[in-house]
Amino acid sequence: MTVSLCGRKVFVRTFGCQMNENDSEHIAGVLLRAGAVRTDRPESADVVIVNTCAVRRKSEEKLYSYLGRLSRLKRKRPFVLGVAGCVAQVRKADLLTKLPFVDVVVGPDGYPDLPELVVRAAEAPEVRTELGPVWREIGAEATARENPWSAFVPVMEGCDNYCAYCIVPFSRGREKFRPLANILAEVRAAAAAGALEIQLLGQNVNAYRDPGSGLGFAGLLDAVAAVPGPAWIRFITSHPKSFGDDIVRAMAASPKVCRALHLPLQSGSTPVLGRMNRGYTCEGYLGLVARLKESVPGTLLTTDIIVGFPGETEDDFQRTCDVLREVRYAGIFSFRYSPRPLTAAADIPDDIPLEVKRRRLVELQALQKTIQVEANRAFVGRDLRVLATGPSPKGAGRFSGRTEGNLVVNFDAPTDPTGRFLTVRITGSGPYSLHGTAV
Ligand code: 5AD
Ligand code: SF4
Repeated sequence: MTVSLCGRKVFVRTFGCQMNENDSEHIAGVLLRAGAVRTDRPESADVVIVNTCAVRRKSEEKLYSYLGRLSRLKRKRPFVLGVAGCVAQVRKADLLTKLPFVDVVVGPDGYPDLPELVVRAAEAPEVRTELGPVWREIGAEATARENPWSAFVPVMEGCDNYCAYCIVPFSRGREKFRPLANILAEVRAAAAAGALEIQLLGQNVNAYRDPGSGLGFAGLLDAVAAVPGPAWIRFITSHPKSFGDDIVRAMAASPKVCRALHLPLQSGSTPVLGRMNRGYTCEGYLGLVARLKESVPGTLLTTDIIVGFPGETEDDFQRTCDVLREVRYAGIFSFRYSPRPLTAAADIPDDIPLEVKRRRLVELQALQKTIQVEANRAFVGRDLRVLATGPSPKGAGRFSGRTEGNLVVNFDAPTDPTGRFLTVRITGSGPYSLHGTAV
């Protein structure tokens, strides 16, 4: 059935990761293709879609307070309210019973049907959360990209790893790979539309296999790098256990593959990694980092850390701090463990007291801050190539951008360089960013 949303105003709000940002581009894309128009304010919208993140308890709590605000808004002025994404997928019909002002609940595989669901919601609330075994593609032509110069291109979705703490295998389902030909067609289309940077996306991109030929992630990187146009290629997220030496070689072989890698560690203690079901040891992880640093010199690493996983001793926690000192990450994302529904760890006692989790997080972040202060200082005086991303949010310079290593640079420039490459002379640094002047 084709339905029309002719002239209806849609507002899409995104919580969570890059995969969700890209999904929101798909959500907006299918609704616009059905005739809707965008608005940047929920107050003036006829349709509001909230794309949600379930990964940590805090992400879900933030969502409920946002939905509370929308329900008050809806009392003043009716609109169709859809909850999409990971919380929709794991909470399903419960959302409708607990939050009666929600009209549509739609998981990641339901986005192609959104126009129909939105139209029908006017008659009765709808839940669409079955996850299929194959990739349900939304073509590049229906993707309403936020930034044409930096294109997200999904390559796989879902996860088969079942890390003990992680809800993703339940919210996104099993691993599904997109055919290589379709990925390359999207990369070419993005390049033709002016993309300077391609960001390949998936929960565990290193596991990629082309369903037709069986070609793996290293081959995919080679093929994407061969597409003329984009100067930078990034990929997220990697899993240390699936990061073969062929991928290290593919990174080294192409200067277009950015010397930046997000490589989640989670814990520096091998026993904790074992209980987390991560599939590698601390030594194995450090070995991979050493091979990377040797074969792809200058690579800046970032990571994810969980503190206070059940049974984490002070000594386990200190092993994590040791890894931070050894690897010297350019940035970390660190979280206090929170039990999530459906996961294996939800069945074991959450035995680390909140004060201990808090203290460990503070200590970890303070250590990392000193590492970043030192590391960032080393860039002062250098000229760096920067992709300008927009006005600076902090006013530390007039514009903001990112380096190949994914460092944030705030800088002054005579004209707005958003969406272009430029060279910035670095004149100062802080723990979380560099600053300078366009040259
Ligand atoms: N508790 C805390 N952090 C979590 N993460 C995933 N699940 C949990 C959880 N239950 C973190 C991991 C992951 C990142 C996206 O979120 O570090 O890599
Ligand atoms: Fe979650 Fe582990 Fe899969 Fe990452 S690899 S999405 S942490 S289950």
